[in-house]
Amino acid sequence: MSSVQPEVLQATAVDANLKSYEEARRTFDWSEVEKAFSWHTTGKVNMAYEAIDRHAEAGLADKIALYYSDANRREAVTFGQMKANSNKFGNVLRKLKVAKGDRVFIFMPRTPELYAALLGTIKIGAIVGPLFEAFMEQAVRDRLEDSEAVAIVTTPALLPRVPVRDLPHLRHVVVVGDSAEVGAEHVDFYKEMEQASEELAIEWMDREDGLILHYTSGSTGKPKGVCHVHNAMIQHYYTGKIVLDLKQDDIYWCTADPGWVTGTSYGIFAPWLNGVANVVRGGRFKPEDWYGTIVDNKVTVWYSAPTSFRMLMSAGDDLVKQFDLSSLRHVLSVGEPLNPEVIRWGLKVYNHRIHDTWWMTETGGQLICNYPSMDIRPGSMGKPIPGTEAAILDDSGNVLPPNRMGNLAIKTPWPSMMRKIWNNPAKYEEYFRMNGWYVSGDSAYMDADGYFWFQGRVDDVINTSGERVGPFEVESKLVEHPAVAEAGVIGKPDPLRGEIIKAFISLRAGFEPSDELKADIAKFVKLGLAAHAAPREIEFKDKLPKTRSGKIMRRVLKAWELGLPTGDLSTIED
Ligand code: WTA
Repeated sequence: MSSVQPEVLQATAVDANLKSYEEARRTFDWSEVEKAFSWHTTGKVNMAYEAIDRHAEAGLADKIALYYSDANRREAVTFGQMKANSNKFGNVLRKLKVAKGDRVFIFMPRTPELYAALLGTIKIGAIVGPLFEAFMEQAVRDRLEDSEAVAIVTTPALLPRVPVRDLPHLRHVVVVGDSAEVGAEHVDFYKEMEQASEELAIEWMDREDGLILHYTSGSTGKPKGVCHVHNAMIQHYYTGKIVLDLKQDDIYWCTADPGWVTGTSYGIFAPWLNGVANVVRGGRFKPEDWYGTIVDNKVTVWYSAPTSFRMLMSAGDDLVKQFDLSSLRHVLSVGEPLNPEVIRWGLKVYNHRIHDTWWMTETGGQLICNYPSMDIRPGSMGKPIPGTEAAILDDSGNVLPPNRMGNLAIKTPWPSMMRKIWNNPAKYEEYFRMNGWYVSGDSAYMDADGYFWFQGRVDDVINTSGERVGPFEVESKLVEHPAVAEAGVIGKPDPLRGEIIKAFISLRAGFEPSDELKADIAKFVKLGLAAHAAPREIEFKDKLPKTRSGKIMRRVLKAWELGLPTGDLSTIED
């Protein structure tokens, strides 16, 4: 909020899809975008049809939809093949009596099979729930239980983490693996796919019918199921055009896993709704492999995250020089604050401005962005997309003038806005408590020229390497460890990961602090919940600061950690 002149990186794009941001803001109308889709006339819709079949039927059947590679496998799948494969999987589910509105989870690493299964699920009108392969049993159980999922698609390696016996609604486990590894009680994916027909009667949906469930963390309670509907495609398609700047011949790579909303909205829907070739790289992050993926596929548009860019930065400038990255035309980022330092580095080594974008699982699609034809102010998230309004509100819901910090909010509705929190209408309503605004939980300010600047989270949600982690979930797991009496979890600032998870723990009688115990506790969370949820730092305390009602005061823990004043302690016990 300083008064010094902001750093400005001038726009250089000459033929961006969005010619003038200012003009689009004045003239843009969402109802025009709908005309791109076949359902504009029929009123009946299916996301998977619009993303794949529509192109296959319009002469693009032989165009590559998916360029897949990992350490052992390389495959190109055309729009025609993707249509056939997803149809087959739709038939597999229909044979199992999975029906419209049922929840089907997908719990497997990124492979071409994942994409066929996800699209096939959508084609029969079921609601798809993608899960990170890093999830351990508790995380899988919470999500399947809450949504009363009827089926899950998984692999032999991940199957042991699916607590089938404790999930009475789960009728089918589809296993993607060698037939020898598929038990008689399970459905053999490859065998069923081989027998399934390539013809499928698509389930035509209402635009407000459920499409996808993404579980995400808040500051309290278990992860919540954010439900999106088919109507979201309007925004996915439009932002694919004006933010990703996708054109017919682009080779687009989004590095996110479909377990995260970025990996579906922008790793599946946006590129394919625009009929663009989509690159998927399986396996773990390795700088050499990432640059290799750009070179091998001649990637033109690349969407990644600040943590990844920071890791690439620490891998060094010399590494970049070993790869010919000249195919790149447009580079974007999402998930956490994008440091100005990283933008400057990107300009130096890639010769590209990295375009920051802001949005959330709940918003379903990009909302505040930088566009190729607009100047970038490093450190700013950009400006709201045409057709939407963003503002900074005070705690009573009044719109604040420029340069005042407050609650970042979006005027409702917009096409990809979530339509419910599964089983939790009260939680849903909370987001919309300020008349007609969606309150994001982020604090920010808007400068006099309309650029938005992220300041932090209003709540205790931790953002570590772009992953949203609820402290409550980690604390709940920690106290299951036999040595742990109480636990309080905070995000500690970290140069590489944005934040790391730090746990303050008081031990049960009979346990002594030690490094071995720290390691054991961290491992317990890693194996019980997920690797990214495990605390990287643990500090033992005799006692944790609590309110008189017994709530652990994370704000005090954070102040201790940062060496800041602890603020109002009037509610603390003793
Ligand atoms: C944070 C889905 C700063 C923010 C994409 C938000 C960001 C949360 C940015 C959503 C950005 C996302 N700059 N912070 N460009 N983008 N965030 O639902 O706190 O996993 O509320 O992301 O990430 O996390 P989610």
